[in-house]
Amino acid sequence: PSKEYLFTHKGFYFAANITTPEYLDSLETFEIRDSDVFIATYPKSGTVWTQNILSLIFHEGHRNGTENIDLMDRIPWLEYNIKHMDYSAFPSPRLFATHLPYYLTPRDLRNKRARVIYVTRNPKDVLVSYFHFSKIMVTLEKVSDFNIFMERFLAGKVLASSWLDHVTGWHSHAEDFNILFLTYEEMKKDLRSAVLKICNFVGKTLSEKEVESVVRQATFENMRKDPRANYENLSEFLREKKPGYFLRKGTTGDWKNMMTVAQSERVDEVLKEKMKNLPIKFIWD
Ligand code: PPS
Repeated sequence: PSKEYLFTHKGFYFAANITTPEYLDSLETFEIRDSDVFIATYPKSGTVWTQNILSLIFHEGHRNGTENIDLMDRIPWLEYNIKHMDYSAFPSPRLFATHLPYYLTPRDLRNKRARVIYVTRNPKDVLVSYFHFSKIMVTLEKVSDFNIFMERFLAGKVLASSWLDHVTGWHSHAEDFNILFLTYEEMKKDLRSAVLKICNFVGKTLSEKEVESVVRQATFENMRKDPRANYENLSEFLREKKPGYFLRKGTTGDWKNMMTVAQSERVDEVLKEKMKNLPIKFIWD
């Protein structure tokens, strides 16, 4: 990958210009509160969707529309503190999103403090979503040829490195964390159950009406219309000016519209065998 866009730190690719090795090192001792909730993902696996759900669960003012706060301000990125916010001054419970691999997370998180929700998505849909996403982001290199992007993705030469290493790492170290695993596909299949699972995990009891409201506002169609959730307000520093939706399609199996049989077989060749040891049953279509 091009040097301008990425840098490696402790074996992992980060976006250049929006974080530093010093800041990343400081995260080792980042002070964790028991009430913190982290959403951890490989990119394009359902991060913003889960951010929106968590925000709707925790913030009544979001749920009933009395507060108009961007998701990125409610649930900022841990490793990319773009707005230079003072996370230590945030009121509890704090909510964060991260693409960090398990081994670069704050030490206390690895000591089972706080809560982590780890969301995965089938890698072919991740790859296709990632390819489209790179076209609308200033921070990502534009690769016009899908085949080239695919080979970089499979080699782990993209932001957040190898999909397989990320997912395998988090799953094989699950016992170090207080963690809930979810998949994009199960959220898509039964959003209400996923919302209830999250409520249960974070210890929030919502009324039937409130759950309904969360589910309604977390559908793809409604999030796409919601400027707080659809990246519309993401600064021009990050987002290209030309149109392109962050909430692009929001479906399962879209890879079939993009990948040739040969490309699909190439992904299988690299990933399928190694994925057998993962305790997740992937839904591919
Ligand atoms: S990022 O950049 O890593 O934070 O991206 P991430 O949010 O993980 O993934 C973006 C994809 O998630 C889809 N998305 C949704 N799908 C279904 N329902 C809802 N509500 C929803 N919200 C976001 C988004 O459309 C991206 O997938 P694609 O396949 O590109 O549409």
